[in-house]
Amino acid sequence: MNAQNKLKRKDVAVLLLAGKGERLYDALKVKKQFLEFDGKALFLYPLTSLVLSKRFSKILLVHAEEDRKKVQDCLLKDPILRKEKFEFIIGGKTRNESVRNALKAIKGKKGNFSVLIHDAARPFLTVKQVSFIMDKTYRAEALTYCIPLADSLFRQDGKGIAYLDRKNLYLVQTPQVFDFDKLVELYQNPDYEDTTDDFSKAVRAGMKTLPLPGDSSLFKITGKDDLALLSMLSVLPSD
Ligand code: CTP
Ligand code: MG
Repeated sequence: MNAQNKLKRKDVAVLLLAGKGERLYDALKVKKQFLEFDGKALFLYPLTSLVLSKRFSKILLVHAEEDRKKVQDCLLKDPILRKEKFEFIIGGKTRNESVRNALKAIKGKKGNFSVLIHDAARPFLTVKQVSFIMDKTYRAEALTYCIPLADSLFRQDGKGIAYLDRKNLYLVQTPQVFDFDKLVELYQNPDYEDTTDDFSKAVRAGMKTLPLPGDSSLFKITGKDDLALLSMLSVLPSD
């Protein structure tokens, strides 16, 4: 991206924090995106990288209605984020509904631009990762980070255990970035309602897609194992 385009900053970022964090709620007694990590709520980490990347004309925070005050209180306590402006969007019952609500709020914005979508449950997004994916938007209509499967893989069902060839298999991560109009199109197709991420909709629709090499640091906090990983990270010195 050249300097002039950078100045225009037409692109939009959407941070998803409207989930219930059900799988970890019993262990944490708080939704995982609000878990305090080294003194601040987890969702503030990826948000800080989105802000510091300076790539977006606006950043939407998609959250549950009951969490509005909590989100705002966390922002006010943060020395960088308290000075920033965000759009607050109420999420839906599913991740798809939350993204749809964000898209509705963006509609009406003129011109061609990209929208970055990121799970707040993947807190360790870096500014470099934001810039790397945003620099490649001219190459495809849909982009995602992903990592090749490192472990062996089997399927277990009524017939027993069958190993699968892990060659060519990837774990899909976020951030994912889309041409805004194309993503709106994907969300208009009821056949894609069953997807758990947005890149898969683009793949199904035969859009021009670009998977990019992600990093294990973009892991999603989902279950108890991830909490163990978090506590290890908090005792490691950061560079
Ligand atoms: N998400 C969202 N709106 C929803 C569901 C999920 O914005 N209705 C967001 C979550 O906040 C999270 C991301 O989508 O950042 C990935 O979802 P997941 O890891 O499943 O988080 P939760 O749905 O919160 O967790 P759980 O499924 O255990 O309830
Ligand atoms: Mg969920």
